[in-house]
Amino acid sequence: MQIPESLAQKGIDNISGFPVEGFVYGSGPEYPAIMLVGEAPGETEIHNGIPFSGRSGKELMKFLEMVGLTREDVYITSAVRSRPYRWGEKKERDGTIVKRKYNRAPTAKEILAHAPLLDYEIENVKAPVIVALGNIGLRRLVGPGQKITECHGKLIKGPVLRLDKDKYKWTEKHYMIFPTFHPAAFFYNRKVLELIHDDLLVLKEFLGRDTE
Ligand code: URA
Repeated sequence: MQIPESLAQKGIDNISGFPVEGFVYGSGPEYPAIMLVGEAPGETEIHNGIPFSGRSGKELMKFLEMVGLTREDVYITSAVRSRPYRWGEKKERDGTIVKRKYNRAPTAKEILAHAPLLDYEIENVKAPVIVALGNIGLRRLVGPGQKITECHGKLIKGPVLRLDKDKYKWTEKHYMIFPTFHPAAFFYNRKVLELIHDDLLVLKEFLGRDTE
């Protein structure tokens, strides 16, 4: 399933002027085992155009394997499709300071700029469950009041936010949302890995899959 070119162009136009670069399409089948909603692509993704193909992606693929799935089985997307960056300085080995771009979390305005793209995918990708990876993806779907630390590993059945003109409104349709941590969370806090593994067991049971 790929969003129409005209919609992708609308996303590119909407986000121009913000400190972001590149554009990565969501990817996967129209009838996936699950749909995954991340935050935004990073440097690797905008170079090769494949969502979750960098460091976080390697972790994500291990998580998928734990629930008996591969990249080909799932639809992968994110709240924002361009890489949000900030300029920073890095000291080289020889002591020279070079300016470089660092990843950062997308802002509410950037998320809004790409909201019609995710709305289209939610409507057109027929997934039994949408896995929200981290707070950005989670809040884009179920509202700003939710915290991944509080609701991870528990299925939420209910409406999701959809952009209507320039305001988010709740969908009439109800969806199954499964929140868990973004794979990058584990780079900063190794204890999160255990929590993710527990969440994945719940997800696996829900999907009724057995990897043995
Ligand atoms: N994080 C995301 O949310 N998406 C990617 O593609 C990579 C990292």
